[in-house]
Amino acid sequence: MSKNQLFATKSLKVLLDDMAGDHSLKRALGPVSLTALGVGAIIGAGIFVATGEAARNVAGPALMISYVVAGLTCVFAALCYAEFASMAPVAGSAYTYAYATLGELFAWIIGWDLVLEYAVGAATVANGWSGYFQSVLTKIGVHIPDVLSKSPIVYENGHYVMTGAFVNLPAVIIVAIMTVILVRGIQESASFNALMVFIKLAAVLFVIIVGAFYINPKNWTPFAPYGWTGVGFFGIPLAGTVGDDHKPLGMLAGSAIIFFAYIGFDSVSTHAEEAKNPKRDVPIGIILSLLICTVLYVAVVAVLTGMVPYQNLDPKAGVSSAFKGAGLPWAEFIIAAAGVAGITSVLLVMMLSAPRVFMAMARDGLVPKRFFADVHPTYKTPWKSTILIGLFVAFLSGLLPLDALLHLTNIGTLFAFVIVCAAVLIMRRTNPEAERPFRCPLVPVIPVLGILFCLLLMLSLPWENWLRLIIWLALGMVIYWFYGRHHSILGMELRGELAKRGASPAGAIKH
Ligand code: ALA
Repeated sequence: MSKNQLFATKSLKVLLDDMAGDHSLKRALGPVSLTALGVGAIIGAGIFVATGEAARNVAGPALMISYVVAGLTCVFAALCYAEFASMAPVAGSAYTYAYATLGELFAWIIGWDLVLEYAVGAATVANGWSGYFQSVLTKIGVHIPDVLSKSPIVYENGHYVMTGAFVNLPAVIIVAIMTVILVRGIQESASFNALMVFIKLAAVLFVIIVGAFYINPKNWTPFAPYGWTGVGFFGIPLAGTVGDDHKPLGMLAGSAIIFFAYIGFDSVSTHAEEAKNPKRDVPIGIILSLLICTVLYVAVVAVLTGMVPYQNLDPKAGVSSAFKGAGLPWAEFIIAAAGVAGITSVLLVMMLSAPRVFMAMARDGLVPKRFFADVHPTYKTPWKSTILIGLFVAFLSGLLPLDALLHLTNIGTLFAFVIVCAAVLIMRRTNPEAERPFRCPLVPVIPVLGILFCLLLMLSLPWENWLRLIIWLALGMVIYWFYGRHHSILGMELRGELAKRGASPAGAIKH
């Protein structure tokens, strides 16, 4: 094993050649369709499931500012994503960018981390979906027994506690349905996406417009009852106060929790290859979709914390309980029904992405190709990895509580963003001449701000999430050590083993 293999990079030229050989997509998307794609991928379960708990127990009405901070963090990361995406618009997203810049070891780490982001993110969304679905059912008089509708484990006061429930069955069922759909293959349709975006926007606007009539501005005082910070390190407070279980409290801690609501914007940058004018339209699509979502999210929080004193918000169902409390129980039904439809599309995208990352890793030999890159003969989808991910997501969403899943997704995503921002800085040095249809503005300021903001939010999450992230990454390192590094095509090329095994070369190697 050559030490150099860990830091060997796949050259940009090879990435572009891979892409040219694979597929060349039609440049059909303008700024409006890119923005719609972004909004469609961003608005999902997050705003409705995380807001109640975060406003009540972590940030108070200052959660409005938390949403602005999280949105800004995403803008920094998004501009870095967009630069890479325009340089190398190939499958695998940040995994591929890292392979081209930071070397195989980092590529592995980020690929493994992205699988965590998408799979645990999908489990979070499925869990949120289940909550909405159950409230729709309740409205029409159907009640699923607790034993089949709740997670059997919750995390309380630093301990896992059994709830007596058996499984969150609706979450498992929706994941199973999505898995079948994804194995059979879906045609991404612009009109379907447009319909979903419309439904979601209508639900959010409904909350804002109807709720605005019930605001009592007195409820916004005190504005930041938990303070403006909330940063800690493994349970040791660095700024602000801590609550039960050493959880950071304050506006920044709120940002770290609701960060989930913004996940998905990176899908705009992965469409760079299909943009009519990537240099102009991709940044417009990203910034505009983030801006629209930020404005909507801040307005939703303003309405909720204005309708109900923050201490009285229902941590599980902030939005619907606020409307019930205002004497508008029918509103709850409309919001939940729109939620079910809108969230389903986000779930589909997340469950689609995880097997695609595995596929990119399998093509480079880092995970078994026969399993992870096997394309179904009839449906032409990576069916084995789709089923594996489906089982994993079903397991997580059926057994684990929503907040643990949400926090884990956030820390995994923030970690991926840190690497993408760092990779832009490195790539500017190592490949200054490469063609960049879109250049991140104000380098190094924007990538450095991206790194700092993401790290700050990571430190604002309850500390046990660091532990979970480290365990996941350690598990990944074990797999890389015993499998990936031996089967890596780049590694074999370095060792001169390619001819023997008859594998195709990964391309020119730089150190
Ligand atoms: N941003 C997506 C959501 O809130 C993941 O569901």
